[in-house]
Amino acid sequence: MSLILEVKDLHVRYGKVEAVHGANLKVEAGKIVTVIGPNGAGKSTMLNAIMGALPVSGSSAGAVTYLGHDLAGIPVEGRVARGMCLVPEKRELFGSMSVADNLVLGAYRRKRAGEKNFLDQMEVVYGLFPRLKERAKQDAGTLSGGERQMLAVGRALMAKPQLLMLDEPSLGLAPLIVKEIFHIINDLRKTGVAT
Ligand SMILES: Nc1ncnc2c1ncn2[C@@H]1O[C@H](COP(=O)(O)OP(=O)(O)OP(=O)(O)O)[C@@H](O)[C@H]1O
Ligand SMILES: [Mg+2]
Repeated sequence: MSLILEVKDLHVRYGKVEAVHGANLKVEAGKIVTVIGPNGAGKSTMLNAIMGALPVSGSSAGAVTYLGHDLAGIPVEGRVARGMCLVPEKRELFGSMSVADNLVLGAYRRKRAGEKNFLDQMEVVYGLFPRLKERAKQDAGTLSGGERQMLAVGRALMAKPQLLMLDEPSLGLAPLIVKEIFHIINDLRKTGVAT
């Protein structure tokens, strides 16, 4: 199996507080790896560090290797360009833009790279989340919690990621929707996406 992501001895601190103390992780193609821990354990911090999206108060040490390349010094946009994608804990949708426009923005990097069919995932996402298609013209800021989550995952899929990182994918969702989202994640796994 090919190794997509490797994290070695990751340390992250916010000023004097060390939030991640020597974490190690390996993710292979087509695998789902889950990080569990109590509130404040450093799970979100670890994901943000892998994505290169720590707040300015944060600093990290250790090695993050993606597809065999050390990511040190590579900014978040460079990581997205290489096929990494994070659905952040706070979802970070563009609230005053429509559902459809939020999805289009997920493919922005592919458009910039000159891909003519950069919107090819739109119907795939609408197929996975029919609710988003029904609400395509509605402002993202007016969606329900579960719908926001669907949109955040859908927007990530627009980038056709090879490594999809989901921070708390079941947070605040009804059990049936959780089942549905996990089903979708498992289907993605079968297409080779590492999660
Ligand atoms: N920007 C920041 N500045 C200072 N401390 C921070 C910052 N972000 C997180 N922390 C601290 O780092 C620790 C790890 O936080 P993190 O959000 O990574 O935890 P988590 O495992 O994701 O928790 P949860 O399950 O509640 O989401 C916490 O003690 C938190 O207060
Ligand atoms: Mg968290």
